[in-house]
Amino acid sequence: MQKVLITRRWPAAVEQALAERYDLTIRDAPLTETQWHEALQQYDAICPCVIDRLNAEALAVERPRTKLLANYGVGYNHIDLVAAAARGISVSNTPDVLTHATADLAMTLLLMLARRAGEGERQLRQGQWHGWFPTHLMGTEVTGATLGIVGMGRIGLAMAKKAHDGFGMKILYHNRKPVDDATVVAMQAEYCADLPSLLRRADFVSLHCPGGKQNRHLIGRAALADMQPHAFLINTARGDVVDEQALVEALREGKLAGAGLDVYENEPAVTPSLLALDNVVLLPHLGSATTATRTAMGLRVLRNLDAFFTGRPLPDRVV
Ligand code: DGY
Repeated sequence: MQKVLITRRWPAAVEQALAERYDLTIRDAPLTETQWHEALQQYDAICPCVIDRLNAEALAVERPRTKLLANYGVGYNHIDLVAAAARGISVSNTPDVLTHATADLAMTLLLMLARRAGEGERQLRQGQWHGWFPTHLMGTEVTGATLGIVGMGRIGLAMAKKAHDGFGMKILYHNRKPVDDATVVAMQAEYCADLPSLLRRADFVSLHCPGGKQNRHLIGRAALADMQPHAFLINTARGDVVDEQALVEALREGKLAGAGLDVYENEPAVTPSLLALDNVVLLPHLGSATTATRTAMGLRVLRNLDAFFTGRPLPDRVV
């Protein structure tokens, strides 16, 4: 039986399915660099997740026993792919299964921002709601507004479709290239080859591009200055796509109306000044957090493990 390590607790049903097929070890604490080295000598496959920093140092083991890092999650910017490939370690991820849960959470943030739901709830809980009045917490109309999608992959597309079909929103999108997809055509989504032309027109901007070097601080001072003062920014992608310090400054200076964040530059740390802003909605990286999705992610990992150890092609190969 192959030895497999999962680095955190998973939904019980998938832990059980894994344990039936593999010699399974479950950890529930971060690994130090030395512990990564030991684990890479000890297990045939390791299933990390977004909070595990598998950088070149952590992967620096001469002849690792581990031949597969089967990531529990779609994003893999926490794994140094070059270092993994150099050690002969394959990497897989879990696309598709978390598309709708993540897009639903982006829509949750969009609605919470527009309708000032966080502010209202805080007010009520603090005993500061003294009854209905016509100018109380007036928000922004979502129906018919313009949504700019940055990164029209699976999740971006799902978000666009929910916003368009459910809320009659006009869709703009920025991507490396136009998406030639029947859904995009049916929505009459407009391609913006350059990011500023999207930022200058969108009432809501939702980020769905990968994290890592290529998109680090894509939304920095210049991009934030391009946004409309009444516009909102939503990030369910990766924290490093947004320069958090520049975001705080832009929010204070009124360059945009608010921000909804599910991901942060230095998770789980959150830039303290964000906490003090009322026009910000902050969630603790909940994008894929439904029971059905977290179970499906585990089963997707299992599918990759099974294929790998029976000599079949990895269904979700990253490297
Ligand atoms: C993902 O799948 O990338 C989520 O952010 C959780 O890791």
